[in-house]
Amino acid sequence: MRKSVRSFTGEMVPANVVQDLVLAAGRAASSKNTQPWKLVLVQGQVLENLRTDYITAFDEGKKTSFEYIYSPDPMPEAYQKRAVELGKAFLIHKGIGREDKEKRKEHDKENFKFFGAKQVFFLAINKGEYGQGTFLDCGLFLQTLITELNSKELGCCVQYSVMAYPDLLRKHIPNSENLLFLLALPFGYPKTDNIANTFISTREPLENFFRVVENVI
Ligand SMILES: Cc1cc2nc3c(=O)[nH]c(=O)nc-3n(C[C@H](O)[C@H](O)[C@H](O)COP(=O)(O)O)c2cc1C
Repeated sequence: MRKSVRSFTGEMVPANVVQDLVLAAGRAASSKNTQPWKLVLVQGQVLENLRTDYITAFDEGKKTSFEYIYSPDPMPEAYQKRAVELGKAFLIHKGIGREDKEKRKEHDKENFKFFGAKQVFFLAINKGEYGQGTFLDCGLFLQTLITELNSKELGCCVQYSVMAYPDLLRKHIPNSENLLFLLALPFGYPKTDNIANTFISTREPLENFFRVVENVI
């Protein structure tokens, strides 16, 4: 079963394994085979420099600057409820009290450390070259990539939160001025005994999101 992984062993995934799974992800379907996705793997010293800047930005409360809007605003009530429930359940699972501001801050900061991953994919598209469907194409690519990672016993966590600082991405990723960054995907071998990795999020029952239409009324 797929689930988000937010703690990694630190062992590097070899370049040939990475290349194989990216090639496999590239087989994702896209409208008219347009393949609008761009994928950047950041690792080594560049990732450490990026991480340092992200941690500083978080600690200093740097103003966020998201370049695309993820969710409807205002969020539909049902979505809002699920989002709040997820946040609460995850904190309870990690043993963090609602009032424990320090621990909650450390918990939030994990995002800006890319959960300690040694390798992070950044998914992007060309600036100004997209319609709504382009995001769907990229979603298909992303899910294929996630499935490929899982098939190799690797884990990952999709991150929108870190799109808060695109200027830092452009500072550390050469030739990225014309990219619109969509998401980060820290990945690696899961640390199985880490509390963050034993959390299982809930799902809506089938009847809430699936129906069959068959008999004419
Ligand atoms: C577009 C997108 C953005 C996400 N951003 C974050 C994020 O910034 N930080 C995080 O910890 N999880 C993030 N997640 C992971 C979701 O919280 C997670 O997929 C959801 O709670 C369901 O849990 P599961 O992946 O373990 O099944 C994101 C997931 C998606 C699809």
